[in-house]
Amino acid sequence: MNAHILLGPLVGGLSHSSVNLWARADGPGMLHAWVGREADLRDARHVGAALLVAASGFAGRVHVRHLEPDTTYHYTLTLDEKPPAPENAPYPAFTTAPPPGEMADFTFAFGSCFMPGLLNDGEIFRRLDAMRPEMGIRFLLMLGDQIYADAWWKNGIGKVALTEDDYRAVYLHTWGHPAWRQALQNLPVFMTLDDHEVDDDWAWTSAERYEGRIPRWHVLERWLRRLPPEARRLSHRRIQAALQTYWEHQVMHAPPLLHPPEGIRHDRPLILPADDGHFAYTFTFGPAAFFVMDTRTQRVHGRRMLNRAQWEALETWLLEVKDAFPVKFIVSSVAVLFELWGDYTRDRWNGYPDERRRLLHLLTANHSEHTYFLTGDLHSAYAVEATLQPEGNPPLKVWEFCASPFEQMTNKLALIAARKIHTYPITEHKVHFRLPRPNVGIVKVRFNGQQPHVRFEIYDDLPGGPRHAVDAS
Ligand SMILES: [Fe+2]
Repeated sequence: MNAHILLGPLVGGLSHSSVNLWARADGPGMLHAWVGREADLRDARHVGAALLVAASGFAGRVHVRHLEPDTTYHYTLTLDEKPPAPENAPYPAFTTAPPPGEMADFTFAFGSCFMPGLLNDGEIFRRLDAMRPEMGIRFLLMLGDQIYADAWWKNGIGKVALTEDDYRAVYLHTWGHPAWRQALQNLPVFMTLDDHEVDDDWAWTSAERYEGRIPRWHVLERWLRRLPPEARRLSHRRIQAALQTYWEHQVMHAPPLLHPPEGIRHDRPLILPADDGHFAYTFTFGPAAFFVMDTRTQRVHGRRMLNRAQWEALETWLLEVKDAFPVKFIVSSVAVLFELWGDYTRDRWNGYPDERRRLLHLLTANHSEHTYFLTGDLHSAYAVEATLQPEGNPPLKVWEFCASPFEQMTNKLALIAARKIHTYPITEHKVHFRLPRPNVGIVKVRFNGQQPHVRFEIYDDLPGGPRHAVDAS
């Protein structure tokens, strides 16, 4: 039986000279990548192939190098060696990034949380697909909850995902959505996980990472509903299965990891007690540098959000980019600068106050101007402007932009329960807007001479222009 492509194609790991082309098939085989400049690929070159094996869920990516910066290429992925037929045109396309440091204007999109079929059946992805050519959107950052593995009522498998095959089936259900596939084949992506790639609000119970925990009310609810014992606890085996499939779908095509967990050379990331590895990575796009945090896989409940290795990487990165790149984006799946009254989950940076102070102190100590947090998770979009000023230092402005959800239950509490954050070194804190509707965030980076201007617009699932916008320079 010949294998077929089930998911993708996706364009990951975009840089000024390379991309990773990704797909997942339904059986073993070779994934062949073809790239050309013509829309019908009559000039296609065979640029590489990857082996698809059962151990990595028949997912694979081809690393394509030696591309020109700021250049549009068409591409396709096939499971045989036949060159693509021009009559099947047009083929999907991507545009490479400008060279690192080049002062180019650009626009990108971001968002999080997708449970298709819950509210508007993927309307945000149809909008994004229509907006991309109009606005020149260069890539999409997906900040977590790319699946809802635990949502047995709506995850496509009718149960809490427990095994690798279960998690893969949830990816197939969610990412197989036609609007999702259509939008992403022409829009390079950068992804990071939040909680639902594993389970709701989960964390490790200890730094040795033997087992995880989920909130008690889930344990109770799942017991009342007579879900199997394995769904009422979070075993090492289940987390391993979730992170294996996270690797296959979201990380395999990402830029190189800063400090990869052991095992990824064989596409099988391991969770070893003494391993400091994590899934954070960095990339650049012209004048902007991005640090994409891993806020989940080394998190120990109530004790730490990031491990030592990731802190070190973040500190080093900030020193490296603060003068070389006029705009910096720090990507965190969970909110840094937004809090709700009565947030008993403490699942965001508010649950790790020492580390939040450390993060904000790091920005002020380096006086890292034009630094923006991008986040998701909250199921309401918002923009926050904060001034940081440790005693005796000049004030520093930072912003946080949140876009969430693509499609999920919205969080109306964000409208009434947002609170000012009182912690070192924040001296002023202002929430500009909140929007509890399905949405996608658009960030526009523009230059006026050497001076960067950053604008955040939020689009919801209704026709018309942005529902909110802030100029955040
Ligand atoms: Fe979510």
